[in-house]
Amino acid sequence: HKRTVSGIQPTGNLHLGNYLGAIRRWVQMQDEGECLFFLADLHAITVHNDPTALRNNIREMAAALVACGIDPDKAVLFRQRDVPAHAELCWLLNGTARIGWLNRMTQFKEKSGKNREGASIGLYGYPVLQAADVLLYQTTHVPVGEDQKQHLELARDIAAKFNTDFGVELFTLPEPVIGGPAARVMSLRDGSAKMSKSDPSDMSRINLTDDAETIMSKVRKAKTDPEPLPDTVEGLEGRPEARNLVGIYAAMTDATPAEVLAQFGGQGFGAFKPALGELLAGKLGPIAERLKELKANPAELDAILAKGAEKARALAAPTLAKAYDAMGL
Ligand code: TYM
Repeated sequence: HKRTVSGIQPTGNLHLGNYLGAIRRWVQMQDEGECLFFLADLHAITVHNDPTALRNNIREMAAALVACGIDPDKAVLFRQRDVPAHAELCWLLNGTARIGWLNRMTQFKEKSGKNREGASIGLYGYPVLQAADVLLYQTTHVPVGEDQKQHLELARDIAAKFNTDFGVELFTLPEPVIGGPAARVMSLRDGSAKMSKSDPSDMSRINLTDDAETIMSKVRKAKTDPEPLPDTVEGLEGRPEARNLVGIYAAMTDATPAEVLAQFGGQGFGAFKPALGELLAGKLGPIAERLKELKANPAELDAILAKGAEKARALAAPTLAKAYDAMGL
């Protein structure tokens, strides 16, 4: 039974990296089988958030997902916090996850920085909650960007160890679905850093709420090299900024980078950047419009999330019950 599950943290604005690396593919997958998508609000509290800001961000992200095309009649859309089984299973899995495994998580190292001793226990245990998120639903497929690969490998390790330790065939080992030209969308200012919500420079990313003029200007000012675009994908080797912009164009048009280069190879960025800017502005504009409408109607969003949570709770219950039982509780 194919079942797709994925989540996103409700931390501020959605950017092009989230959109191309995850959400756009969620929208495609909701037509191909059973899907559950959730706002990872329990993950968001592993760093301190102002409660009012978090409340707003949760609403904003729910609206953004629907504006991007997640259809609550096709996919189950909910908040993690509304399904207590996520937190419960996380606690059960804490008995299985090893400190040595978590010590290898690069995201914790990045996020805790130099002050590792001062990081929260939640930030450290974050990947165990993520494992619970997917294992709870017998998930087969998890569409994510490249940066989440290590967390999903950990989820598989936890599932396998739990099954072995308790002599059960309880958890399905989930497959990460990573790939395409936008598995890792890079910063517009630095081709070696990923596009991220936490980059202090807003010029480094395209937000889904940026207007056409802002998008055009961010693309125009994006860092590039002075060479024209190559004719082949091999020619992008060692040119991370060029590769990134070509990848974005490809992902936005459902083409391959080779097809994009067949069209733009030999041309300079003076020609390519306006084409990319117009493409992005044209596709993101209607999403931003829909987002505004949805934000003006919070009751509609609350109803969507309430309905999603009810479905998710029902789907989660059997696996949680079996996990308790397998452990003798
Ligand atoms: P988050 O909220 O940081 O990002 C949401 C999704 O967007 C992808 N992404 C990117 N893809 C390509 N290029 C980028 N620059 C880029 N930036 C972000 C992420 O890979 C992710 O797919 N821990 C997760 C949320 C989570 C989750 C889960 C995901 C919680 N539980 C269970 C899958 C399954 C996170 O913080 O993603």
